[in-house]
Amino acid sequence: MGQTKVSIDGVVRDEQDAVISVFDRGFLYGDSVFEVMRTYGGSRLCGETDHLERLYESARRVLIKMPVSMDVLRKEIATTIEQAGNDESYVRIVVTRGSGPLTYDLSTATQPSRVIVVTPLAVPDPILYEQGVSVSLVRVNRPTDCGTAVGVKASNYLANLLALHEARSRGAYEAIILGSSGAVLEGASSNVFAAHGGVIRTPPPEAGILVGITRQAVERSANALNVNFVETALFPSDLYSADEVFITSSIREVVPVVRVDGKSIANGHPGPITVRLHAEYRKLAQANAL
Ligand SMILES: Cc1ncc(COP(=O)(O)O)c(C=O)c1O
Repeated sequence: MGQTKVSIDGVVRDEQDAVISVFDRGFLYGDSVFEVMRTYGGSRLCGETDHLERLYESARRVLIKMPVSMDVLRKEIATTIEQAGNDESYVRIVVTRGSGPLTYDLSTATQPSRVIVVTPLAVPDPILYEQGVSVSLVRVNRPTDCGTAVGVKASNYLANLLALHEARSRGAYEAIILGSSGAVLEGASSNVFAAHGGVIRTPPPEAGILVGITRQAVERSANALNVNFVETALFPSDLYSADEVFITSSIREVVPVVRVDGKSIANGHPGPITVRLHAEYRKLAQANAL
């Protein structure tokens, strides 16, 4: 039987006992950074080192001092997964700047807190991969689109949540975020790719995207499969005219996109490059090779 366990500052608790102060700045201001990953084979975390390195880099970029070393955090994550005992787990790590008085001044925060939530993984419905999904383009400005936090995995996802809501209200599965110039950036919680004539194109890190761990694995797989992979600006017309479009994330792996704002991509079915990349990704993830 699957269950949720939460480690707060190194102490593992049941879900109902996992509490944090209402004065925590993560709660008050979204003043925290996070990572999401999943297990394969019960306890093996896919891309764990990449995720942890990104977490420490996110914290550094927003001036949160990580409270423990990566090795300590790694052990705490492993203990929490073990105590949850799920077939497969979804793992969310949040590091908040900590509590303090109700001022915005960073220097008033006390000790950063680390929270590890381990919960049974809801495996994506296989129909997503068989039939593909639809996406909708939404123009929004996010707190991490410019300034010092660009590309950081910061917890303030309100703009992404609202973009997803808008996309869902149009009947789409995922929102594709357009930046202020109208360029395609990424999904609300995924990276986006378009294939034209056998070449995969995706926006570069400088566009202000979160450089996904899955995106990096897909780039390596594309190279291994001799499929050209190019980082370049993408615009909506590039999606509409693509032979294939797909999105990636750690939980959903590689998901074919068959409609953009109601317009069919090519023949409206998952494309062969997407299917190959997904098979390769899953094979490597299951073999603990990512
Ligand atoms: C905005 C955004 N872009 C991209 C991704 C994909 O990142 P990853 O492949 O590391 O899960 C996510 C994942 O949550 C995300 O929130």
